[in-house]
Amino acid sequence: MQKLLIKGKKELIGKISISGSKNATLPILAASILANRVKIKNIPLVKDIFTMVELLNFIGLKTKLIKKKNIIEIFNSEKNINTLAPYKLVKTMRAGVLVLGSLLTKYKKAKVSLPGGCAIGTRPVDLHLYALKKLGAKIKIKNGYIIAEAENGLKGAKIRFPSISVGATENALIAAFKAKGLTILKNCAIEPEIKDLISFLKKLGANIILKGRTITIKESKIKSSKIIHEIIFDRIELGTYMIAGALLAKKKLLIDKIQPKIIKSEIDILKKIGIKILIKKNSVIIIKRKKLKKINIITKPYPGFPTDLQAQLMVLLTQADGVSKIKENIFENRFMHVPELKRMGANIEIINKTAIIRGPTKLNGAEVMATDLRASVSLVLAGLIAENRTLINRIYHLDRGYEFLEKKLKNCQAEITRV
Ligand code: EPZ
Repeated sequence: MQKLLIKGKKELIGKISISGSKNATLPILAASILANRVKIKNIPLVKDIFTMVELLNFIGLKTKLIKKKNIIEIFNSEKNINTLAPYKLVKTMRAGVLVLGSLLTKYKKAKVSLPGGCAIGTRPVDLHLYALKKLGAKIKIKNGYIIAEAENGLKGAKIRFPSISVGATENALIAAFKAKGLTILKNCAIEPEIKDLISFLKKLGANIILKGRTITIKESKIKSSKIIHEIIFDRIELGTYMIAGALLAKKKLLIDKIQPKIIKSEIDILKKIGIKILIKKNSVIIIKRKKLKKINIITKPYPGFPTDLQAQLMVLLTQADGVSKIKENIFENRFMHVPELKRMGANIEIINKTAIIRGPTKLNGAEVMATDLRASVSLVLAGLIAENRTLINRIYHLDRGYEFLEKKLKNCQAEITRV
């Protein structure tokens, strides 16, 4: 079991380049099942992507991953297609459930393992199934699998999501591609990753209009030409390194390969805390400040403050003056990092779904345990500012979603090694 050893309090200086978005790549890989040939650029080389590629291979697509160029080519020969997403692949990577929409709309049937829960919550898929049933799919759950079929194909429908769900919006969007007639999805998630999926589907021939939280999709024909798409940058990775800069930048930390306008709300919040951020066309410069101000945050669907940055923000707020509050409104159990941060000296208590953080507190290195992807990166941030050494266990969680994390930080003079 690999661990990360960090020696804290080393100032960061230099440049960090942001990778492609894991959460944009996963639905686009799932949607590639609809296509004939695709070439996807700027994909992040992280575990979840490799698992999704394995799933595409299992289904019968040919894939060619050119790691040194962050490119994948996918070819669907339409031979020996297996409309099955097995438990062994979906259990470690919940987003495997996103192939449901593609398989159903193209092959009229699918057998997909229920993803099961993870550390941050039960992660149900009822909203996915609600939408697919509205599109005419017959769905039953048997032995832990979703068994879906639409022998006469899917039929367009008007669907209002009872609550906002990124994955359910993506599954419904992909399924509506070949659904007969018109589909109108209301109360959709509108994360930048969904907008990237929409731009990919449009290249595939989809007729999609996004207005507010409503997405309208007309039955479309799939283009047989080769599709080329470049994945957008990972806004959560960007937010993570901006917070690292706010905590440790010596003179300035340059972060590039991004489009700052996409994360306006996160930037506004970090500025409110007192971080000095210079915004350029495709980069930001973070300048560490002495004093950080307390703030109260509630995690919300985009464009609100993202739940995926909650753990990282919490580390920053341990260094802010006064009492800050973070209410986690998206997932039921996304405070697994709190006990670990408290072992490092953070002053945090949880009342209902709100974390109350008192700062500034000095953090001390300790041996800690990663529990989920974003919690593990918050322990890295804490280790970077703590006195002495921090040893992080179970860093396979990190490898699911952060490309070359140690390398990027080492390039900015952090003392971090994988042991
Ligand atoms: C996506 O997960 C992201 N994953 C998550 O990122 C992210 O935290 C989440 O959206 C919220 O932004 C990917 O894109 C691969 P949801 P998803 O459906 O689609 C409940 C990371 O760290 N819900 O928007 O699973 C659900 O339990 C990961 O990269 C239902 O009740 O999130 C949650 O409380 C973690 N029924 C809320 O909705 C459903 O059918 C939002 O979930 C689906 C979801």
